[in-house]
This record gives sequence, structure tokens and C-alpha cells, in this order.
Amino acid sequence: MKRASILLSALLAVLGSMAFAQVQVGVILPTKDEPRWIQDQTRFEAAFKTAGIPTQILFSQGNTATEKANVESLISAGAKVIVICPQDGAGAAAAADEARAAGVKVISYDRLIMGTASVDYYVTFDSFAVGAAWGQFLVSKATGKANNLYLYAGAASDNNAFIFFNGAWSVLQPKIADGTFVIKNSDKAVAVMKKATLTRDEEAAIIGQVTTNWSFGDAKNKAEANLTSAKKADKGTVFIEAPNDGTARAIADAFRTDKDVKKYYITGQDAEVASVQYVIDGKQSMTVLKDVRTLVADAIAAAVAYAKGGAPAQTTTYDNGKIKVPAKPSAIVTVTKENAKAAIVDSGYYPSSYFSGL
Ligand code: BGC
Repeated sequence: MKRASILLSALLAVLGSMAFAQVQVGVILPTKDEPRWIQDQTRFEAAFKTAGIPTQILFSQGNTATEKANVESLISAGAKVIVICPQDGAGAAAAADEARAAGVKVISYDRLIMGTASVDYYVTFDSFAVGAAWGQFLVSKATGKANNLYLYAGAASDNNAFIFFNGAWSVLQPKIADGTFVIKNSDKAVAVMKKATLTRDEEAAIIGQVTTNWSFGDAKNKAEANLTSAKKADKGTVFIEAPNDGTARAIADAFRTDKDVKKYYITGQDAEVASVQYVIDGKQSMTVLKDVRTLVADAIAAAVAYAKGGAPAQTTTYDNGKIKVPAKPSAIVTVTKENAKAAIVDSGYYPSSYFSGL
């Protein structure tokens, strides 16, 4: 009996490793032009190498046609699983449909592919918690009433921009409604300030007004335009919801060079090296560490589960407008000057040599 069970587990191990070796995984990332996605590329390369899984990583360079061509080339190369971080959530639906039609499993990575049933799984961080962390940080720094608040958002083509905004709104809205904060750069947000829950259309109207399009240049231009039209009283000490690190640095630089801005608090996310340095230097107030090693491990675990005929772990679902996509969102960590060393260096995320003054 004992011998049989040893034999059985040995057999399962062999079968498991065969399935493992056969996994052919393709990864498609949205752009090389943002450090965030280079983080993912680097972590994927390292993890696939360790796991001995054949793979190919391609970039869409902000172009849906390139993304679709990438999917097609991975299908012809024999990929069994394609991990896609869509450069435009709705735009990626056709490519996902094509992969599904070819019998390939589609894993939506970090950003949700919208409006199609051809998504098998969603590997993501808890993006609502990211936005809530921004809100909590800004609220924790505010005293008294009528604090100047500037809102900025990600690209409207990215469903995450809505989830981040939602998370932030859940914390900020009561503090806007009670007069702790006054929104200075979005009359669309002011118009709905009494509403705890917004419709997608209301959110879209606000995001449309304060979007950075995830572009550092757009973020800088928008911040400069806001500062130009703001009165002196709208400056002084300001609170800024910036949607990620690249845009936060651009917006922070614009606010810092305005002589009427005496002090600013600004959020971010991604723990980009340049932003961790900004946090250490006091030029960015916080970032959110989304440990990409976890996301990569989850994507690989999902691919391996499919290769073995199973399904990846699921704790919740995300509605993409067509289906509820199974997911297991990962936790995030707020990083400030106080915990930067523990969160970023002691955790093994980056070596201390990347930073000065830590
Ligand atoms: C990601 C962020 C990233 C942003 C811009 C979002 O979907 O979750 O980490 O900074 O896109 O690329």
C-alpha cells in the first residue's frame, strides 16, 4: 500500500514536470517606454528561467494593431497560454477572441481586457486598495478645512484608472463632502461631491477631465495648465492625487517650480526606482509597492495550472462588461520615507545601491 502510494506520487511528479516542460507561455506587455513594464519584463525573464518554461515576451508599444500581431505571432509559435497586459482594455478584445479561437488560454495581466468572453483569468493587484491608499495618505496629512485638492487620473482606456479612482473616491469623498478638501481642478468632480458612489459615466467624465493618459508629458502639461488658472489661494499647501510614479514626478516637478506652492503632498504607485529616490528626497510623498514578483508568480502558476488541466486559484471576479473574470488580487504596500528601507530594500525588491540617502 505504502509502496503503491510512493509509486503514485512519483508518477504524478513525472507527469507534472512533463506538463510543466510543455508549457509554452507568451507574454505581451503594453510599452517599453514606462519603467513599470520593464520591471515586469525583468521579473518575467528571471522567473521563466528559474521555472525552465519556454517563453517569449513582446511589447505592443501603445498600439492595438501591434498587440494583435503579437498575439498572432505567439499563436503561430505554439503558445498554449498568452499573458496579455492590454495597452487598451477594449481594444484587446479582438486579439483575445483570436487566441481563444486557436485554443489558447488568455490571462489578462494587471489590466483587464474588456468586453469579451475570451478571458480565462485575471492576474492583478488589488487596484481598489491602491486608490484607497492614496486617499488614506492624503487624509492623514490634512488638518482643518478647505485644503486644496488636485485630482489626476490614468488613461480612460485602462479599466484600472477607474478602479484606482474608485478606491481613492471611497476615502476622499466623505472628506470632500465635509469640507476638509476642496477640489481645485475638476468641476466634474465638484458636481458629484455629495455622492459616495459614482456611476461609470460620472467617473468617466471626471477621468476625461483630469486624465494624464499615463503620459508624463500630458501630466506635466495638465499640471502646468491647472497652476496657471489657479489663484494664489488655491496654492499654498496642496494635496495631489497622482495616479502613478511617472506622472507623479512630472506633476510634482510642475508644482515644485510654482513659487506660490509652499508645500505639497503627492501620491503615486509602482515603486519605480526614480520615485523611491523622490520619496527619500522628499519630492514625492508616497508610492505604492506592487511587488511584481508576486504578479509574475501568479501568472506562471496559472499557466502551469492550465497545462495540468486544472484552473488557477480564485478568490473573486472582475466584471469586464461581458463576463465575470476569475481572479485572485494581490496585496499592495504603501511606501513613505519612513518605511522605504524596510519595504523596498529589506524585502529584497531592490538593492540599496540603487538609492542614495536611504
Ligand atoms: C498599472 C500601473 C501603471 C499604469 C501605467 C496601470 O494599469 O496598474 O502600475 O503605472 O497602468 O502604465
